Amino acid sequence: IDATLREVVAELAETKNARLVGKHFHRVLTGFNLHTLRARLLSNALAIHLEQGCLGFATGRHLPASVFALRCRGRQLVIHTQRGRLLPGGVFDYIDGGAEDEITLRRNSEAVERLEFRPGVLRNVADVEISTTLLGKPMAFPLVLAPTGFTRIARSPGELAVARAAERAGVPYTLSTLSTRSIEEVAGAAGGRLWFQVYAWRDRGLLKAMLERAAACRYEAIMITVDTAVLGRRERDIRRGFTLPPKLGLDTLLSGALHPGWTWDFIRHEPIAFANVVGQSVGDGSAAVRLADYINGQFAPGLSWRDIEWFQEHWSGPIILKGIQTVEDARLAAEAGVDAIALSNHGGRQLDGAPPPLELVAPVADVVGDRLEIICDGGIRRGSDIVKALALGARACMAGRAYLYCLLYTSAAADE
Ligand code: GLV
Repeated sequence: IDATLREVVAELAETKNARLVGKHFHRVLTGFNLHTLRARLLSNALAIHLEQGCLGFATGRHLPASVFALRCRGRQLVIHTQRGRLLPGGVFDYIDGGAEDEITLRRNSEAVERLEFRPGVLRNVADVEISTTLLGKPMAFPLVLAPTGFTRIARSPGELAVARAAERAGVPYTLSTLSTRSIEEVAGAAGGRLWFQVYAWRDRGLLKAMLERAAACRYEAIMITVDTAVLGRRERDIRRGFTLPPKLGLDTLLSGALHPGWTWDFIRHEPIAFANVVGQSVGDGSAAVRLADYINGQFAPGLSWRDIEWFQEHWSGPIILKGIQTVEDARLAAEAGVDAIALSNHGGRQLDGAPPPLELVAPVADVVGDRLEIICDGGIRRGSDIVKALALGARACMAGRAYLYCLLYTSAAADE
């Protein structure tokens, strides 16, 4: 098996042709007993293949989900496979996936992995202080929980559980505009540092009302997402015809039966919807909708630097811009007088080919100095990743998928 795989892999590396790669790989997979193969795949062939970066073909069509999940190497590999089992394919892909060939999604993590420490020893580290400040307020740990739309799609405790967990951990939680619990529900369930993420609705009246609601509920800051003039082309979702909430078709029923934990949780709790706009004319997602149709229909593609002034007039607290991806835009953000920026490519879900945020931290820090604070968002999976970003000049990091996967292990009774 080993030798054959190596041969095929070498051949594939030569071809760099997605269609051919798919065909060959499919042949290998069907030619061998999958169980025998899996261990080998894990340890060598896929790894080699991944190194050579030509697994772009594996859009899931040719491969069973668990094998497809092996795209993710090392520490992420096993965890990803498990997540695939805890979620129906469509939901897993919505959370896990990125735009187009997922090059940016992959590079976000690779940038973190590539960077190595220069470990000075004999420095007396008996007292280590990991608390810090962000936007002038203390936080226990330099991590912000990122806004994630439709959080209850992972598990029903959703935003309430995440907000409470953030409060306990002493870190800020950013509620998404497209949350499945409302601004008020989350503020009622959790104290701590709550931030509110905003998209620029075409309907400015609706946007203004949302800002007022967030202010009334004492949200500390708003985070304006600036990288979503149109939704990224998320091909996993397109291929599956994925909707929010997931439509119940034959596919979903079958997948649901194979993931009884998720399905039981989903059908037993109240239906999920865009909780901040329930009952409003923009549609609240209670009828299944494709995210791309919703976002492209409701959010203003004309958003520009001039609109930042509008936000400054309508929000008196700190403003963070999420989705800055060049040094030049970081400089413009500093000139616009915002308080912080999140260097972010939306977790690789928007423009495929955008640079990894970690690689921007140092050059951006050089240009903006102490005019604003830098949050690094993308590929952050553990504490040492945060250390890397901070060493380069970030004030904190931000993560979304990481906590969504944690949610898979919560129950309504214990949202630890
Ligand atoms: C929403 O912002 C998403 O990335 O799905």
